Amino acid sequence: MEGKAEKERVCVTGAGGYIASWVVKFLLSKGYIVHGTVRDPSDEKNSHLKKLEKALENLQLFKTDLLDYEGLCAAFAGCSGVFHVASPVPIGPISNPEVELIEPAVVGTRNVLSACEKAKVKKVVVVSSAGAVAINPNRPKDRPMDEECWSDLEYCKATQNYYCLAKTIAESEALEHTKKSELNIVTVCPSFTFGPMLQSTMNGSSLLLLSFMKGSFSY
Ligand SMILES: NC(=O)c1ccc[n+]([C@@H]2O[C@H](COP(=O)([O-])OP(=O)(O)OC[C@H]3O[C@@H](n4cnc5c(N)ncnc54)[C@H](OP(=O)(O)O)[C@@H]3O)[C@@H](O)[C@H]2O)c1
Repeated sequence: MEGKAEKERVCVTGAGGYIASWVVKFLLSKGYIVHGTVRDPSDEKNSHLKKLEKALENLQLFKTDLLDYEGLCAAFAGCSGVFHVASPVPIGPISNPEVELIEPAVVGTRNVLSACEKAKVKKVVVVSSAGAVAINPNRPKDRPMDEECWSDLEYCKATQNYYCLAKTIAESEALEHTKKSELNIVTVCPSFTFGPMLQSTMNGSSLLLLSFMKGSFSY
């Protein structure tokens, strides 16, 4: 007798964010059971997730922070894949970059990878950023950027570009991790991402687009 195979489970970290919401929507449309981590499931800013098609049957939200290893383990249990999308994307000035940006991005990614190992996840997609690639004053401008190109950590520090600093450290640690782990880790480096939003609150890159449209962009 043919048994009804359980659908594959996949987790998306920071499920309520701009990019992650689209990942959740796509995975649900493909029939996956989706686990989504959010910091506050009752926050109105995450309410769009429950309205996605098939969300009522196939989307389960888990309350956890990237610094909460046990919470991540609970969210990844039973999952064959994890999309690690969550990372702070600052909108305005920040007062404590170490705590607000670097720790959640770097320690958060470390926690995600160890929790994936514990849960025996097969594949992890770590969402990095073009900001981990391009911020290097010595980069030859006539050469295409590829996997060999990294943002310069000292330059990021000197220019107080803590977002790119955090993304660079997090991605390079994730790739280092592949050398000592059986976990299949891939990283992707999007540049500015624009398009329709599923969530009701503004995210950093959509705000940037808005500032272009309003003519209020300043660098
Ligand atoms: N949008 C772009 O143009 C762009 C370009 C390149 C790379 N990326 C990368 O793509 C990913 C998603 O970015 P996005 O544009 O979709 O930004 P976003 O809408 O601001 O989403 C960021 C998500 O990360 C979560 N998060 C932040 N700190 C956390 C922590 N300590 N613990 C748990 N969750 C935390 C946020 O949760 P809360 O809602 O609870 O704050 C939110 O869900 C990020 O890794 C970003 O670096 C984005």
